[in-house]
Amino acid sequence: MKRYLLPTLAGLLFLAGATVALVQTKAPAQKTQTSAVFDSQGKMKEPDPHVFRRWVHVFRRWVFVGAPLTPEGLNNGKYNCDQPGGWTKSNFPEYHHVYIEQKNVDAYLKTGEFPEGTVIVKELTRILDPKFPDGSRTEPSGRGYFNGVYNGIDLSMKDSKKFAKSNGWGYFTFGHHPLPYEATAAEAPLETCAGCHLANVAKTDMTWIQFYPILRDKDKVK
Ligand code: HEC
Repeated sequence: MKRYLLPTLAGLLFLAGATVALVQTKAPAQKTQTSAVFDSQGKMKEPDPHVFRRWVHVFRRWVFVGAPLTPEGLNNGKYNCDQPGGWTKSNFPEYHHVYIEQKNVDAYLKTGEFPEGTVIVKELTRILDPKFPDGSRTEPSGRGYFNGVYNGIDLSMKDSKKFAKSNGWGYFTFGHHPLPYEATAAEAPLETCAGCHLANVAKTDMTWIQFYPILRDKDKVK
């Protein structure tokens, strides 16, 4: 029995030392983790395209949390629109594809809040060639709406210090038009973006959780 005591003790001491070392090396890594990259003028920019390929190839592989759809046909062409060609009249006649990095989805599922540095991308895709006045068309699966071309990116980022005046989130738009998108985006003014999020979803981390089932229904077991 005694024979094993010494090596066991030595083993335990080694393990304890390793744990301390691990905790110590981990401590400085508390810095905010984010996939957002800013240029020298403070504009958000695409991460290095040579390393990541184009940005669109990065976030389209994140977790796809939902796709709200507000087609023109259901909005009476009520708003003026900035689409070239003018075939559409509503503000957002597209699908809104929403992507969040896996680690930030996991953190939200655990804590009910997004970590500092979280980036949420909303990429728009137009409706595929409308055939009826409501914008729908018929396919073998039935009459409805189908994804057309990509048509722009809106993005939000959580950084409580940087965006303190808008409840900890900054808003950016990389263009509302087909590819290619803008390479950089300055923070949008409060009245353009954050104001509406502030007025409606300030209590749910400035994000429309109610439209994203994986986040909304996180506490439902079945
Ligand atoms: C009039 C209100 C309003 C304004 C203004 C607005 N949004 Fe939103 N935003 C919404 C709604 C509602 C949703 C969720 C439903 C949807 O996409 O249709 C949303 C969703 C988002 C999302 C997906 C994450 C989330 O919060 O749920 C991002 C990113 C986003 N908006 C960015 C922007 C940016 C960038 C601007 C400014 C260019 C902007 N928003 C302006 C109402 C608004």
